[in-house]
Amino acid sequence: MIYLDHAATSWPKPPGVAAAMADFLATAGGNPGRSGHRLSIAAGRIVYDVREALAEWFGVADPMRVLFAANGTHALNVAIQGLLRPGQRVVTGGMEHNSVMRPLRHLQQQGVRVDVVPAAADGSLAPADFAVALHRGADLVVVNHASNVTGTIADVAAIARPAHAAGALLLVDAAQTAGVLPIDLRALGVDLLAFTGHKGLLGPPGTGGLVLADGFDRTRLEPLMRGGTGSGSEHEYQPADLPDRHESGTPNGVGIAGLGAGLAWLRERGLGAVREHELQLCRRLREGLAAIPGVRLFGPLEAESCVAVVSFVLEGRSVGEVGHRLDEQHSVLCRVGLHCAPAAHRSIGTFPAGTVRLAPGPFVTMAQIDTVVAAVAEIASS
Ligand SMILES: Cc1ncc(COP(=O)(O)O)c(C=O)c1O
Repeated sequence: MIYLDHAATSWPKPPGVAAAMADFLATAGGNPGRSGHRLSIAAGRIVYDVREALAEWFGVADPMRVLFAANGTHALNVAIQGLLRPGQRVVTGGMEHNSVMRPLRHLQQQGVRVDVVPAAADGSLAPADFAVALHRGADLVVVNHASNVTGTIADVAAIARPAHAAGALLLVDAAQTAGVLPIDLRALGVDLLAFTGHKGLLGPPGTGGLVLADGFDRTRLEPLMRGGTGSGSEHEYQPADLPDRHESGTPNGVGIAGLGAGLAWLRERGLGAVREHELQLCRRLREGLAAIPGVRLFGPLEAESCVAVVSFVLEGRSVGEVGHRLDEQHSVLCRVGLHCAPAAHRSIGTFPAGTVRLAPGPFVTMAQIDTVVAAVAEIASS
């Protein structure tokens, strides 16, 4: 079996991930921050250690500014619904996932103005177009750091400048880049960053979070959900402190322990080494696919401009047929269709059929890529 669906969720996970999760259940199964006994304290320590590791990873001094969430979608909703009010204006790009577009369209119906800066056919966004769109001012800019359809990486630092000049906050959807590209909120000028734990960071499903930059005024973010936090229990109002204000209910300690192990593996292996491996895989994949008659590739030509996502269509074949045959006849697992991002497919001209998406990860080998290219060639010729 060749797993090329890392853009949906990474698999397999590094061996330490399952071990850390089992260990949490066996030795630290208490409810973090709730009770004062040893199992609760042990659980709280693990959750804090991972929070601290993530703060360092994303260039944030205060670990309490890492807010855990159930996934990237949850984190984006905490930010979008927590910041925007009727009458305000948000500017976004043409490559967004429905995790951004659906909350935005929902808020649009309640009086938030939503403007979309178009993307080019290769999925790239021109910072100058953001500058033009932001001339009239805005409250928030939301932008996808890298597309889950074409892999195209956005120049977030260049978008941050006009966003801040217009008085807007910058929220980045790092679902496809956390654990893939180096991310430093300070260096990029990002105010809020939503990440998912189960893709590039190699943690289990059920993990993700929102990171608030050190300089971000946290009082601007209203909680999406309210409830028990283990702190200030004498009050019936939501506490003001971070992270509790945005973390009601028992956290996913098991998943967070696994996420910590995924992050530890990445640190040990080195982000640069993993990125270089994936770049080599993608170069080979793109070159191999480009040589097959009838294949049309999407996204920028240079692998360096992309994360490890390669989208294509095959002339005369539906994407469903290609995906089915890759799975059934060649044991190649990938994703076909719209990838929850209809706006991105409209931008690159593949709506409504979508594309076949091949997304390699750290444990995929060059020999497997050659097998996949041969499989697509066989499907194209028969
Ligand atoms: C660009 C992008 N944003 C957001 C998400 C949502 O992440 P999650 O599946 O963790 O909710 C995804 C997941 O595919 C994504 O690719």
